[in-house]
Amino acid sequence: MISVEELKQNPIPEHVAIIMDGNGRWAKERGLERIEGHQKGATALRNVLQAALATGVKYLTVYAFSIENWQRPDNEVSALMTLFVNACSNELENLTKHHIRFHVIGNLDLLPQNCRQSLQETEIATQNNTALQLTVALSYGSRWEIVHAAKMLAKDIKNNLIDIESIDNQVFTKYLQTYPLPDPDLLIRTSKEVRISNFLLWQIAYTELYFTDIYWPDFTEQDFYAAIAEFQKRERRFGKIKELKKELKIEN
Ligand code: FPP
Repeated sequence: MISVEELKQNPIPEHVAIIMDGNGRWAKERGLERIEGHQKGATALRNVLQAALATGVKYLTVYAFSIENWQRPDNEVSALMTLFVNACSNELENLTKHHIRFHVIGNLDLLPQNCRQSLQETEIATQNNTALQLTVALSYGSRWEIVHAAKMLAKDIKNNLIDIESIDNQVFTKYLQTYPLPDPDLLIRTSKEVRISNFLLWQIAYTELYFTDIYWPDFTEQDFYAAIAEFQKRERRFGKIKELKKELKIEN
């Protein structure tokens, strides 16, 4: 058993991102409908939120529905939309009690109107909470996000709001959906898959990656603590050599 007190002896990641994968396989292996895997996945997320609060993680960003997921069968898509709407109304009390701010990123124009409205209402109701920010990526794809950012930037250039020579990493980052969040320190992916699947491609340039075989519905607080313990063993050099202290003016 890993204790929170033990973990707190070492640096806690400020921002943890999670690809919550394996709900479908979890359900199939038990002879259940896929949506039952997603429902169990929602419970796992609730538990991980508690663990994030306990350890002092400030930002938790989860991949709940990718742009590619729109290609799933209609009944699964609509059951997921209903799950998101219900989660908003059922979890508001919990979010408020624990001072969690709820935020959504992604191409929300593609969502059904009732779903968009529930999400927006939950964002507004929790906007002043500061214990932890939960960002849910819905109808999200990183390439879409980067292209969208490029379009917005191009518009600002066209309207003389920005000078091309002033564009650097920091300026570009402001056009991404995740702004002003810091980049994730740790990315967790469950369910044996070892890929990024179009999630936060820009933001994870120096993020520590952690893959586990556990299906998301089975992922517990202890599994979250194990990921943090592994993170604490890593040496983050951001491309530099540890001993070399010289400050170079090179953008990373
Ligand atoms: C990936 O598993 C999971 C999803 C596409 C949905 C994630 C949604 C939840 C965890 C529900 C809770 C979320 C919120 C924000 C309330 P998969 O279906 O791709 O699994 P598979 O790879 O085994 O088929």
